[in-house]
Amino acid sequence: MEKESMERERMEKEGMEIEKMEKLEREKIILTGDRPTGRLHVGHYAGSLRQRVALQDSGEYQKIFIMIADAQALTDNIENPEKVRQNIIEVALDYISCGLDPEKSTLLIQSQISELCELTFYYMDLVTVARLQRNPTVKSEIQMRNFEASIPVGFFTYPISQAADITAFKATTVPVGDDQLPMIEQTREIVHKFNTVYEPVLVEPEALLSGNEASKRLPGIDGKAKMSKSLGNCIYLADTADEVRAKIMSMYTDPLHLQVSDPGHLEGNTVFTYLDAFCRQEHFGRYLPDYADLDELKAHYQRGGLGDVKVKKFLINIMQEILEPIRNRRKEWEKDIPAIYEILRKGSDEARRMAAGTLAEVKSAMRINYFEDTDLIRTQSKKYEV
Ligand code: TRP
Repeated sequence: MEKESMERERMEKEGMEIEKMEKLEREKIILTGDRPTGRLHVGHYAGSLRQRVALQDSGEYQKIFIMIADAQALTDNIENPEKVRQNIIEVALDYISCGLDPEKSTLLIQSQISELCELTFYYMDLVTVARLQRNPTVKSEIQMRNFEASIPVGFFTYPISQAADITAFKATTVPVGDDQLPMIEQTREIVHKFNTVYEPVLVEPEALLSGNEASKRLPGIDGKAKMSKSLGNCIYLADTADEVRAKIMSMYTDPLHLQVSDPGHLEGNTVFTYLDAFCRQEHFGRYLPDYADLDELKAHYQRGGLGDVKVKKFLINIMQEILEPIRNRRKEWEKDIPAIYEILRKGSDEARRMAAGTLAEVKSAMRINYFEDTDLIRTQSKKYEV
């Protein structure tokens, strides 16, 4: 009798396993995120936000998790907790204003998912110090921040915590900039190691890169390689129309293009880089009907006879068209900040349930699920039966 019920239990379990595997095969899950260290700017929009919205609206993904990575932000902002705290709402407002829809995408705050710490702790056993030291992203960030020997352990190991972020949600797809590719590679290694050493419960994620070169590496308005708050060269999604206009009018172009009749250069010309990232065919019809397309505009600029101001005005029109609806949505949501926190709370709750499920599987695979395993007590008792 008992044997029969045990057999039934075993078969039920097997059935559940198959069901679970089928589900994994079916489901495409996205996880990605940002460190909340400032408002988001048009570089974020070109490089990731607009792609996320398109992925969300494509209907191809069963689940989409967008993480505000506050715990990761703290790894190099230890003395700046208030900055991280203040920017949670800014990033969330920017997300929603860009079209991330809390009904379709789960917005969550990393630190509220304590399961991620547990996963990180166990994954640490699967990674060597040498491997972390070889991670190119970590390497260059250590240089950038002058960390050298004084690097906090939490910062040094953040690739492991990022692997926890990704695997906790069984993400198949991680849309990121190419600076993050080493993180995905490290995650895949951890997954592979875990699945071989223990049981195949984790999913190997794929990185998803976005857009053309210009979108991936949008320079600041001063032409410097990167937009950064400290350089004061960003166009923020929350900037007013006047701010956007003034910033574009002051944009770095071609220092050799002194007179309209001079031939102009495109390389390193910020205005044209922005056009590469944002200009679409229909913009010509609306704002610059004298030209058929961007190639024609570029050719005229290179030939000489096309002034910077005309090109800048064209870019202003395009950017306002893109930014105005974002700005308007932001204004609306700014009137209901409690609703944003509620969205984040709900999203974090849902994320936590998902992460808890993965953690339970991980612990079972690692043989540390003592109280869930009824067989354990039975077999241990048998050992001492006379
Ligand atoms: N490291 C990412 C960045 O700096 C942010 C991040 C944290 C992330 N966890 C993630 C990105 C998981 C993708 C997946 O932009």
